[in-house]
Amino acid sequence: PTLEKDLLPLYFGWFLAKRDEDYLRKTSHEFLEQLGNLKAFKKRLQPFSVGSEDKHKLDLMKYFAKSPNILHCTSKFCDYGKIVGSEEYAQQEAVKKAYSKGYTLHLSALFATPRTVGAQVELTADQLLLWPSDAEKEVMPKDTLPRGSRAHITLGTAADVQDVQTGIDLLEFVKLQQSGKEGENLGEMSGSVAGKVSYYDNGMWMLNLSQKIEVRSIFSGYYG
Ligand code: A2P
Repeated sequence: PTLEKDLLPLYFGWFLAKRDEDYLRKTSHEFLEQLGNLKAFKKRLQPFSVGSEDKHKLDLMKYFAKSPNILHCTSKFCDYGKIVGSEEYAQQEAVKKAYSKGYTLHLSALFATPRTVGAQVELTADQLLLWPSDAEKEVMPKDTLPRGSRAHITLGTAADVQDVQTGIDLLEFVKLQQSGKEGENLGEMSGSVAGKVSYYDNGMWMLNLSQKIEVRSIFSGYYG
């Protein structure tokens, strides 16, 4: 008899526990609401404007029309094995050992761009063992960015934007920060999204949370 290969998922990643997923969706709405109400944001709608829409009003909840069915932090996109390196990733001892185990994810920032809204994930040393070494290079081949700096949770995307864009947008922030650009401090948020708001040009907004959000998750594969 021939040994059958394990099926490879669409992607591996950390999947949020239901309660924490609900909480994060609410937090994301709160972030978009407070961002949309910021005076500084209202003055900088241009990068978000689409065609003939009102230049001084924008409903961010409507703007980010799509949201993933299951909130998660992708570790490795495999496309059922079509992506090179998927098999090798799945075969790693660390990956096999972690499969179906619980992890707490630490979210340090929320961000919004004209394309995506997401949460920045600060991976722990344990979690970094499950992070592909080429994840950052894949997107920004010319840069040397810290391992794990692409780690994120996609919270929403604008119409016609793919989810994969969220990690690319996050790396754009990281790249700017690495080159010494702090972003312009343009306000504060309060309540569940308390923190400082920085603006990085081209409609790139980042909220540095004064208290990290912790969400529980399970490391697994999505076969959808
Ligand atoms: P993300 O991790 O930013 O949310 P899709 O539905 O487009 O097939 O994507 C399924 C999941 O895999 C999404 O979570 C998506 O983005 C992620 N993803 C899609 N394409 C890639 C890619 N080329 N590299 C890394 N992650 C990807």
